[in-house]
Amino acid sequence: MCGIVGYCGKEHCANLLIEGLKKLEYRGYDSAGIALEENNKIVVVKAVGQVKNLENLIKKSDKKAVLGIAHTRWATHGKPSLQNSHPHTDCSGDIALVHNGIIENFLELKKELLKRGHKFKSETDTEVIAHLLEEEYKKGKDFFTAFQKVTRKLKGAFAIAALNSKEPGVMVAAKKQSPLVAGITNKGFFLASDIPAFLKHTNKAIFFEDGDTVKITPKSIEIYNADFRKITRKVHTISWDISAAEKGGFKHFMIKEIFDEPQAVKDTLQTLPPDITKAFSLPLKEAKKIEGVYIVACGTAYHAALVARYIIEHFAKIPVEVEMASEFKYRPIHFKKNWLFIAVSQSGETADTLAALKNAKADGLKVLSICNVVGSAIVRESDYSVFTHCGPEISVASTKAFTCQLTVLYALALQLAYVQGAITKAEFEDLYQELLTLPELLKQTLKLENEVKKIAAKVYKSPSFVFIGRNASFPLALEGALKLKEISYEHAEGFAAGEIKHGPIAIIDKDVPVVALAPKSDLYEKMLSSCQEVAARGAKIIIITNTSVKNALDVPYTNEYLFPLVAATVLQFYAYHIANFLGREIDKPRNLAKSVTVE
Ligand code: AGP
Ligand code: GLU
Repeated sequence: MCGIVGYCGKEHCANLLIEGLKKLEYRGYDSAGIALEENNKIVVVKAVGQVKNLENLIKKSDKKAVLGIAHTRWATHGKPSLQNSHPHTDCSGDIALVHNGIIENFLELKKELLKRGHKFKSETDTEVIAHLLEEEYKKGKDFFTAFQKVTRKLKGAFAIAALNSKEPGVMVAAKKQSPLVAGITNKGFFLASDIPAFLKHTNKAIFFEDGDTVKITPKSIEIYNADFRKITRKVHTISWDISAAEKGGFKHFMIKEIFDEPQAVKDTLQTLPPDITKAFSLPLKEAKKIEGVYIVACGTAYHAALVARYIIEHFAKIPVEVEMASEFKYRPIHFKKNWLFIAVSQSGETADTLAALKNAKADGLKVLSICNVVGSAIVRESDYSVFTHCGPEISVASTKAFTCQLTVLYALALQLAYVQGAITKAEFEDLYQELLTLPELLKQTLKLENEVKKIAAKVYKSPSFVFIGRNASFPLALEGALKLKEISYEHAEGFAAGEIKHGPIAIIDKDVPVVALAPKSDLYEKMLSSCQEVAARGAKIIIITNTSVKNALDVPYTNEYLFPLVAATVLQFYAYHIANFLGREIDKPRNLAKSVTVE
């Protein structure tokens, strides 16, 4: 949600900041703005809508600034408008700041500030910070000290970057619950909500912790922790290739990212040697003791967790509880001892997942995270982490991250099964060998794109779309429906095939296409019966299988627990082409943000 980019260094930064904002567009936003400091003056430019509207408004003369902050806003307080877009300034116009998150106590702060004569120009919660800074600065402290004082008064979530024309050449920043990372180059420093904003210029990054305040000059970066003690934070080297953040000739990031899947899975597998002590970083002793697993996540990552429940329970024979992070937080759960808590998150910044993880940790559970972003908040809070190696996932609809999350979870299931004695070494090796063929199987599956596109062309005008599956393919049906509704804005639902006769069948008629996920398994015949039930109501049936039956979308053969990892691609193509025929904004669907950093 929202994007912050800042620069302080030797280079002219207006274009760097705009470029950075464009790289963060995937996060979702409604307006954009920039503040540039030059000759002891701050120039603020804002525009509603796209970053390119803002770009067109920046004057040539302002492009020489070497210090600036920029923002894409995802409105939480006050409608999307010019007045409400960031940067916000104080009464004098000397101070400018951008903010991501929500200031929960802004009403009371605003009331006080109004009483003391401050004039507000926006309806945002953010503007209170500018006026508080103005007051604190007037007390005679330096800008950074004043800024640190102000952060103490703020409740809620924030990443903030601020400038003061009275102290040129200084950028200050703070982080609490919203993501903020610095990029280090030999010509200066970037600040950003996410790495792609500066990846073209550097792969050296510092991830800030909650409570950190930061002072940046062209030559230095000083970091203070929540107790305002000066500290150093690790400089991470990001291994992502910059071309991974480009469309590379594809019409949309989503379709490009689906085609990335074989390589992403390969890269992920290569970092998971079939060695229990290395693969999911749990010490062997602890892995042996595990009596059950909680997996908590949101959205697509939650669906990966649901698939994983079937896989782990089947192979490792230990119970698995899966819950949406936003619900998990509020359950008065009495955590079971010796259960492992797993958080799954592409971004590693999802506020709901982070909050659930903190609860579990506070109750004494060991926490393992499966994330795509090294140094992200969820990773930092975890006892152990395993990474998916997808590179940046830009499209809001998650595709390659889903397949890679499942790859890690599948490997983890096999390793748990082995250390717990549920499968023999020989069985483990056979199953692991099959998993290692996944990149190749995915390459073959990508060849189905045209066939899927033809089907999409026939059904895209339907009023409603249904997906059914059983066992490990049931959550895949949920994911198929989520993908489609996210990017097509059409109604779509996934059901357990066996459940459809208990109610959902009422919505089936000749206009509703039903995708049936039917891998070869003991339940295959039952799945075909479910297809008969909906066919009898006139539904168009699209079967995704690995049994080589006629008139079906046939994916390469695997065991039924690996099938969701292969067949997901077909559902992603289906959603993509339907949305494309409908002319939707595929990479940035309405109302959605890539990284949901508020609870
Ligand atoms: C999926 O297509 C999403 N837009 C969304 O559901 C996402 O999976 C969810 O918000 C979780 O994000 P995370 O993996 O970054 O935690
Ligand atoms: N709460 C602030 C606003 O509504 C910041 C929103 C954002 O993170 O973009 O302006």
